[in-house]
Amino acid sequence: MLNNKKILIGICGGIAAYKICELIRLYKKNGADVKVVVTPNALNFVTKLTLQTLSGNEVFVEQFNIDEYKPEHISLTDADIFVIAPATANTISKIAHGICDNLLTTTACAFNKPFLIAPAMNNNMWENTFIQENIAKLENAGYNIIYPSEGFLACGTNAVGRMREPEEIFEKTVEILNTPHNNPLHKDGEHLLLSGKKILITTGGTKEKIDPVRYITNNSSGKMGIALANAASRMGANVTLISTFNTPGPFENIVTETAEDMKTAVEEHLPEQDCIIMAAAVADYKAANYSEQKIKKGNENKISIELVKNPDILKEISSIKSSATIVGFCAESENLIENAKTKIQNKGCDYIVANDISRKDIGFNSNENEVYIIDKNLNINHIEKDTKDNIAVKILENIFE
Ligand SMILES: Cc1cc2nc3c(=O)[nH]c(=O)nc-3n(C[C@H](O)[C@H](O)[C@H](O)COP(=O)(O)O)c2cc1C
Repeated sequence: MLNNKKILIGICGGIAAYKICELIRLYKKNGADVKVVVTPNALNFVTKLTLQTLSGNEVFVEQFNIDEYKPEHISLTDADIFVIAPATANTISKIAHGICDNLLTTTACAFNKPFLIAPAMNNNMWENTFIQENIAKLENAGYNIIYPSEGFLACGTNAVGRMREPEEIFEKTVEILNTPHNNPLHKDGEHLLLSGKKILITTGGTKEKIDPVRYITNNSSGKMGIALANAASRMGANVTLISTFNTPGPFENIVTETAEDMKTAVEEHLPEQDCIIMAAAVADYKAANYSEQKIKKGNENKISIELVKNPDILKEISSIKSSATIVGFCAESENLIENAKTKIQNKGCDYIVANDISRKDIGFNSNENEVYIIDKNLNINHIEKDTKDNIAVKILENIFE
C-alpha cells in the first residue's frame, strides 16, 4: 500500500509517544521508507534506540550539529507526508505560529507537502480556547487533522483527548497519500482541477435580529462550507467565502449577518462566478418588526414575535440566467432523498447536496458528514461518511469532473 512512499514521523513529548512504535511498524510492513524526527521532550517517553531499530533509520533530534554541515530541517522535507503524532498542545501551537525552536518545528515550517496531525492531550488542554483556535488555524490552512477520540486518558479521566489508534492514523495516511488535491501548498503554474475557476461559497447560520441584543439563528457550524472553501482553494480555484463569522483562510472572506445581507453580497459577486455553492443555513423567517430598543420584560406570561419570510437566495439566483453552476444544500431530518428531489425542482439549481441532520454522528457541528448529491435529472450520487474535508473534495470533483 505504501511502496515507494517516504513518511516522516514527528514525535512530541506526550504519553501516547509509545504507540508510535506500532505506527512505524505498520508503515514499514506496508513498504514505506520511514524517518523519525523527535522533539527533545519526546525522548522522555520513548527511546532513540527503539525508534531507530523499528524505522531502520537514524532518529533526528539535534537542530545544530557542529561536526558536519547537515541542515537536517531541509533534508528531512524530502518525504511525501509529515505525520506528527502524538502532537502536543505545545507543538501544535508553535507550528500554527510559525515558531521554529527545535528540529521538529523547524522542519514543519519548511515542509510544503501534506501534513497529518494527531493531537493527544488532557481534555482540559484540548478544550482550551487557544488550542482550539490553533487547530482551526492549521485545518483552515489545509493541514489534515485526525481528531482525538473520547476514551481513557493517562490523567485518569474518560474524556476527549486520546490520540487515535495507530491503525486509524495509518489508514488516514494511506487515504491522504491516495487523495489528489490534498497538498495545501501547490506549486505556482501547476494545473489543478479548478485552476482558473471562480467559486463563491456561503456558509454559517444567518442571524436575524429581533432587538439590539436578541436574534434568531440555527445550529449550523459552517464547517462544511469552510471545508469546501479550503478544498476549492487547494484545487486551484479563486474562492470567495461569504460567511456569518470571520473565517481566515486562503480565500477572500466577506462577513454578513442576516439573510438580506447575504443575498446582497451574493448578488454583487454573482456575475463573475463559474460556480456558486450555497452551504449557508439561511433562516427561512425573520422578525417582522425589528425593535430599535431592547424589548423589556413585562407582566405578560406570553408574548409573540411576528415572523415574515426571508428572501430565498438559492431560488432567486437560480432564476437568473447565468452560466454559473449553482449548488444548494439541504439539511433534512426525515425523507432525505424525497425532500431533496422536491427541493431541486422547486429551486431550479443544478445540484442539491443533501445531508441527514437526524443523525448524531454527522452534520451539524460534527467534523464528519455523509451526503447525497442530486443533479437536475434526479440522478443520485452517494458520498459515504468521511471527514468534511474529504467530502468537500469529493463534492467538487463530482461537480467539475
Ligand atoms: C507524564 C507527562 C505526560 C504528558 N502528556 C502530554 C500529552 O499527552 N499531550 C500534551 O500536549 N502534553 C503532554 N505533556 C506535557 C508536554 O510534555 C509539555 O507541554 C512539553 O513542553 C511538550 O514538548 P514538545 O511539544 O516539544 O514535545 C505531558 C507531560 C508529562 C510530564
